[in-house]
Amino acid sequence: MKIFVTRKIPEPGLDALKKEFSVEVNPFDRILTKEEIIKGLKGKDGLLCLLTDPIDNDVINAEPHLKMIASYAVGYDNIDIAAATKRGIPVSNTPGVLTETTAELAWALLFSVTRRIVEGDTFTREGNFKGWAPMLMLGQDVSHKTLGVIGTGRIGTTFALKSKGFHMHVLYTDEQTNEQLERELGAKKVTLTTLLKESDFISIHVPLTKQTHHLIDEKELHQMKKTAVLINTARGPIINEKALVRALTEQWIFGAGLDVYEKEPEISEELHRLKNVVLQPHTGSGTIETRTKMALMAAENMMIGLKGGIPPNCVNTEVFQKNPTT
Ligand code: DGY
Repeated sequence: MKIFVTRKIPEPGLDALKKEFSVEVNPFDRILTKEEIIKGLKGKDGLLCLLTDPIDNDVINAEPHLKMIASYAVGYDNIDIAAATKRGIPVSNTPGVLTETTAELAWALLFSVTRRIVEGDTFTREGNFKGWAPMLMLGQDVSHKTLGVIGTGRIGTTFALKSKGFHMHVLYTDEQTNEQLERELGAKKVTLTTLLKESDFISIHVPLTKQTHHLIDEKELHQMKKTAVLINTARGPIINEKALVRALTEQWIFGAGLDVYEKEPEISEELHRLKNVVLQPHTGSGTIETRTKMALMAAENMMIGLKGGIPPNCVNTEVFQKNPTT
């Protein structure tokens, strides 16, 4: 069977696939267009794609042989799952292996903003450091403050648990009660409004859906403390980026740390100029270890799926309920 891989991923994943299948990898070191993905898919049985690929109805229905889609990401808002399910194509993702790594980046951003690390680095490199000064580049303490976690799935829970050493008061929003956070941290489930009003630091960990699109808009930014720091390592469109630019420019909040953007890879021009925001190029899962685990996981899903089994990380298992031989 033949597989199309939309971008080079770590070798161990590709090697595993090559043992079983004929593998064609995007030869360019760039994101492919939808048309290029459709072209690459011609005659292929499997598609290994990235979160940057628009896997919509046209792509899903472009190749009659297509039997399996393995995404190299945990978030799959870029894939039309309903269209894949309709065609009986299983779709898999890479949950779990990137949880700690993404939670760590959220903390890195939180500290970068609160302690003005990027600004301080630039200031020092540019030769502006003339000696210790009482009022030089003052930031904010993190310990003993209130941490607001929006969404306590795998990543949100892990992010919150890492606050233990900083003795924080933890508030969270989620559809479910998070017993682990309540037991281990004394965390409190609250409404979004309460979380926004009472938290010193707010970190977003919900998936992008119709319900979470622009979850943080002008109104929500106004509800935050003037000293609040907002972190987003989830998906860009959860925040209205225009409203965030206003909030940062007019200092409704202290700052933000962003790994994701509303129109990725485009970033609002204003964000480039603002000092109270730290920008990261969507590297939440970006460590050698994690990206390798993701490659192996995507490859395993692909192998099992193409052989007719249920991929361990299948996100549309209904496909198998309707037609167990798919
Ligand atoms: C994912 O896998 O969804 C992450 O955004 C990658 O960093």
